[in-house]
Amino acid sequence: MTDMAQKILVTGGAGYIGSHTLLQLLLGGYAAVGVDNLDNSSQVAIQRVQELAGEYGQNLSFHKMDLRDKPALEKLFASMKFDAVIHFAGLKAVGESVAKPLNYYDNNLSGTITLLEVMAAHGCKRFVFSSSATVYGWPKEVPCTEEFPLSAASPYGRTKLFIEEICRDIYHSDSEWKIILLRYFNPVGAHPSGYIGEDPRGVPNNLMPFVQQVAVGRRPALTVFGNDYSTKDGTGVRDYIHVLDLADGHIAALRKLSDPSIGCEVYNLGTGKGTSVLEIVASFEKASKQKIPLVMAGRRPGDTETVYASTDKAERELKWKIQISKQEVVRLSRASSSGKTSKGRFLESHGNGRVNG
Ligand code: NAD
Ligand code: UFG
Repeated sequence: MTDMAQKILVTGGAGYIGSHTLLQLLLGGYAAVGVDNLDNSSQVAIQRVQELAGEYGQNLSFHKMDLRDKPALEKLFASMKFDAVIHFAGLKAVGESVAKPLNYYDNNLSGTITLLEVMAAHGCKRFVFSSSATVYGWPKEVPCTEEFPLSAASPYGRTKLFIEEICRDIYHSDSEWKIILLRYFNPVGAHPSGYIGEDPRGVPNNLMPFVQQVAVGRRPALTVFGNDYSTKDGTGVRDYIHVLDLADGHIAALRKLSDPSIGCEVYNLGTGKGTSVLEIVASFEKASKQKIPLVMAGRRPGDTETVYASTDKAERELKWKIQISKQEVVRLSRASSSGKTSKGRFLESHGNGRVNG
């Protein structure tokens, strides 16, 4: 580990977005420490990140830990100094949060408060948080800018809103804090090696993993939730961002934390483009040269019609923008689900993991 490398604590580091971010951090020259209770992930992801990072893999260590275990977290912070924390750890299934709200409030809120308390006690006041486009609710217009009114339609969404508010309050109470709230739109895809990625347990809630499972024959057909929306083809429109672009957004955020003028700021991480369910299916069919059978069904409760990001603020202030096109996102999602990948070629086109130079 080089002496000069910034050391970043990554909570939820074994998870889907956390593992891709760990990899990009290592390739970007950071040292990283991952913590995760492995409730929704496996430590294998950490080993794979180390392998994918090659010589940089030695700059990663991991601790199995629940964030609500304050003594364990205290011990970790007492044992080393962190330059910043990227906080992914949390529960994220919208439907489950409606059925088990207390689990969500306990895990997401208590976990975050414990983390922030321990950070403050150890003088670590640089924080990047995984928020979500879910805080825009059903927006009156698109693209969504960071100034739009906020709302939440589920206990999960409320945990994101509450944590955003907690962060704003902390900053108001102590201006030494530097906090960036990142509102993700719809993360999809995986590292092109297929070596790390998303493999949801049970029936996938999200569109892309479901389409992938239909493509590999694990499910007979995709159920399309609603074709009567006021959109180009009647199906829901979202902003699908490749997980490696999203991961790079975190590195841009870390850089921004060194800006003396930063307080508590919020940025959208999306592509700025809306894509319908049927367009995703058509692109996937084109890339895989196979038919995705569809079953048309009613709207899914709690779904919104059209949500996509304004990316102006992130591009301007974080000097970050996506590098992977929509076609490439679909091609890579197909490739990572079928194992047909070309890591070398992709990394050549995507660079070494550094954001915009
Ligand atoms: P994920 O479930 O793959 O990763 C989250 C990780 O946190 C898991 O590995 C889990 O084991 C761990 N974890 C949960 N509670 C913990 C606790 N109390 N202590 C320690 N570890 C704990 O999910 P993801 O898709 O990588 O999402 C990461 C973050 O991004 C989450 O906060 C999520 O709400 C947010 N987000 C995700 C999406 C999305 O569509 N994937 C969209 C917007 C926001
Ligand atoms: N959809 C289907 N069939 C499926 C799954 C999804 O038609 O089997 C449709 C949905 O109705 C929606 C679109 O595909 O129109 C996208 O749905 P996802 O479930 O993939 O994503 P959402 O936009 O509903 O929600 C996701 C995360 C939330 C997060 C939100 C914004 O699941 O946690 O993005 O970041 F808050």
